[in-house]
Amino acid sequence: MKIAGCLGCEYCHTKGEGKCIQQDDMAKVMPAYLESDMIVFATPIYYFDMTAQLSAAIQRVYCIGKPAKATKAAMLISSRSHGTGEGAIVSYKNMLAYIGLEDAGVCALAGEECTNEEKLAEICAFAKSL
Ligand SMILES: Cc1cc2nc3c(=O)[nH]c(=O)nc-3n(C[C@H](O)[C@H](O)[C@H](O)COP(=O)(O)O)c2cc1C
Repeated sequence: MKIAGCLGCEYCHTKGEGKCIQQDDMAKVMPAYLESDMIVFATPIYYFDMTAQLSAAIQRVYCIGKPAKATKAAMLISSRSHGTGEGAIVSYKNMLAYIGLEDAGVCALAGEECTNEEKLAEICAFAKSL
């Protein structure tokens, strides 16, 4: 999807009445976001952080904040090397504390784990438990 970062123009909080002035694929995400009871942030690690694409989508919920029914969130990350996802996890936890969601868990796979059957079964079990 093509989703631009927030412009910080405050249109949503003024004339826009909660709607963003930018028209892009965030319009496809927003209906599901608004209806969600849980948010799962999934991203590969790019330069020790979540991708710019996920970061842009997170910035764009500035116009809404927390969806009315959402109570919890989880994070799934993959990376080449172990221990490189801490920056993304800190951002995720800060976001949860800020908008008021319970952390249902973070699942992080690295390197060969990303194709390991046992590890993938663990991820499936984690996803089903959410
Ligand atoms: C631009 C870019 C930056 C990356 N930076 C990191 C990094 O900082 N640490 C790391 O362990 N892996 C890094 N990687 C590797 C990806 O995190 C890794 O290949 C990941 O498993 C890809 O997930 P995917 O198969 O779901 O796309 C980077 C890859 C790209 C393309």
